[in-house]
Amino acid sequence: MDKKNLFEIAKKMVAPKKGILAADESLKTMTKRLETIGVESTLENRSIWRQIMVEAEGVENYISGIILYDETLRNPLPNGKMIADILKEKGVFIGIKTDEGTYKFNNHEETFTLGLDKLEKRYEEYKQMGAVFAKWRAVYKIGEDMPSKASRVANAIGLAQYALITQKAGLVPIVEPEVLVLEGDHDIEKSEEETEEVLEDVFKWLERFNIDFSGMLLKPNMVLAGKECLNQPKAEEIAERTVKVLKKTVPKEVPGIVFLSGGLSPDEATEYLKKMNEMYKSDLPWQLSYSYGRALQQEALKVWSGKSENIAQAQKVFIERCKKVSEARG
Ligand code: 13P
Repeated sequence: MDKKNLFEIAKKMVAPKKGILAADESLKTMTKRLETIGVESTLENRSIWRQIMVEAEGVENYISGIILYDETLRNPLPNGKMIADILKEKGVFIGIKTDEGTYKFNNHEETFTLGLDKLEKRYEEYKQMGAVFAKWRAVYKIGEDMPSKASRVANAIGLAQYALITQKAGLVPIVEPEVLVLEGDHDIEKSEEETEEVLEDVFKWLERFNIDFSGMLLKPNMVLAGKECLNQPKAEEIAERTVKVLKKTVPKEVPGIVFLSGGLSPDEATEYLKKMNEMYKSDLPWQLSYSYGRALQQEALKVWSGKSENIAQAQKVFIERCKKVSEARG
């Protein structure tokens, strides 16, 4: 592992005005997304959508890296090109989702993330295909006695083991512990507590596994109230509580924090990121940026709706959102 190289890549991934596009929806998730616009989930349709995004003119001005799903990296796009070649031409880093989803754990309402046993072997191939960074997601539910200590520790160890294998292979790990903060009726304080506990465990285990903090990125949720909570916080409070938790838990050597959008609307995800940077940017050790999936794709996906005559407009809408999010982080 070349430590300096990992740091250089991680730093570039969160360079000013830049963030990450999460286009790594699994087959199941992408099928759900396509269903919302009435499009059949065939390999061709999934590839057309991803081609629309990477071919959008100027995408490289806002997006430093794209997280891909295995099938997108492996198969030619409908235009006959490999996605890795297009991204290399545009100077966009290639990332790969390496987790294989989750399996029931503990009380069966919680989950543990699968795929550790195959990582080393898969990286040999992904590196040849051009990948320089990876992503692994652990998921935590908020509820009675959840996240449990067992799930926090198990998933933190899973994330640490993934980060270790990833750095050893010479790729930058994006460590994604996602607390499903929008699900439920809990208030923002509860989200803050749970997110803090999850992140504490994650960094405790990353440290025990000797992960080089300067060669990784953290992808957390923002601190939000559950959707059904009657007392919905304003952007200032979300920014304040989110940054407070991060300051308590994230080592200063980590070059960047790239938020997931987690079901926020594109406008909300943009607004909260903007608020955090407006209020705190000047005294934070790390960059606050984005690794949005839905918040970047949702509007454009709807415009496209599977029709070739809508592609140009979908690309325009996609780029407009990328620009807004890029300006929000500054
Ligand atoms: P969302 O921004 O849609 O939450 O997706 C980000 C992601 O990569 C989830 O793993």
